[in-house]
Amino acid sequence: MIQPVEAPLLPWNRPSIGDEEIAEVIDTLRSGWLTHGPKAARFEREVRDALGVEDAFAVSSCTAALHLAFLAAGIGDGDEVITPSLTFCAALNALRQVGARPVFVDVERATFNIDPRAAEAAITDRTKAIVVMHYGGHPCDLRAFRKLADDHGLLLIEDAAHALHASRDGQRAGSVGDLAVFSFYANKVMTTGEGGMLVGLGELVQKARLLGRHGIDSSVWQRHGTRSTADYEVVAPGLKYVMSDVTAAIGLQQFRKLPAFTARRADIANTYTRALTGLPGLATPTVLPGVQPGWFLYSIFIDADSAPLTRDEVAHHLLADYGIATSKHFRPVHTLELYRGTATHPLIVTETVAARQLSLPCYPSMTSQDVNRVTAALHALWQR
Ligand SMILES: Cc1ncc(COP(=O)(O)O)c(C=O)c1O
Repeated sequence: MIQPVEAPLLPWNRPSIGDEEIAEVIDTLRSGWLTHGPKAARFEREVRDALGVEDAFAVSSCTAALHLAFLAAGIGDGDEVITPSLTFCAALNALRQVGARPVFVDVERATFNIDPRAAEAAITDRTKAIVVMHYGGHPCDLRAFRKLADDHGLLLIEDAAHALHASRDGQRAGSVGDLAVFSFYANKVMTTGEGGMLVGLGELVQKARLLGRHGIDSSVWQRHGTRSTADYEVVAPGLKYVMSDVTAAIGLQQFRKLPAFTARRADIANTYTRALTGLPGLATPTVLPGVQPGWFLYSIFIDADSAPLTRDEVAHHLLADYGIATSKHFRPVHTLELYRGTATHPLIVTETVAARQLSLPCYPSMTSQDVNRVTAALHALWQR
């Protein structure tokens, strides 16, 4: 029987919060303004300007941003929306909420991103939109998807939850779609604990902003000091999805650190790739030319036919014998209970990736010793 390791657990992920975030939150708490106000507006402007998009709306989660994106884009009953299954359930659940039908298509072998050819083959008269997801922070083929959407009169929505700061061929992930969403969940490339951002065309983001604040025609910050906060109209059946200024305070500081965070993630990724290349049956991630990945995930891919252990055995031994936590991304959505039996196109690559992919720890606060601990453990497992 395997004894638990003595070394402290190396978690799969850990947020990097410094004195700057703490000071900004204290400043907000002392300011007298806690809900969506000046800090959220500043955070929105900074993200908007960095991406070069028309507008940005800071919200309570990426899931909220997805729901608002679909509502604002008028996606609803009977519409088909093309999407990968190798993703988190958030976009799919939001599509269900608006009454649309997700059409799952397969991903590319190299990047695990939605395959433009498979997407094109799935277009029908009922297709309204394509939702792409930048797997692990490696942007999908943005130019191909923009052209596909334009040629067929479809909306392009980027689920860029993993990809803030990533780019491909000089285009930032999140800057090409009609709308795009980001996640600031605790494990993401930058975090606010919970939070998200919707960006894109001004008219659509403005519609989403209205729907995300109860359908009220002005924000409470806009009314503050100029008229009664009770002086408003409700013009749409909205929801409440705004980001608070307490949350935005964390976001402002994290966003400033994002280039450095991403550089550190890239260093770790390069070290892993150098150290792990050549282990039989283990493949390291492919980075296509012209891509600056966000490195939310560092995936290895274990082929049990040529590796000494299966993916699940590797995950088990890393944790049990070496105290190293890993994760898997993702259980394909079409295999989850709610969506079982809904796949209408072949998902061969999706299912292969799901059976073999393992996410190693890759986050800015990891030390060189942490990184070496992971590579040494994998080498030791391969030599058993
Ligand atoms: C691809 C993808 N989209 C959306 C989400 C949802 O993000 P949030 O937790 O901010 O709602 C996640 C969360 O992990 C994700 O991985």
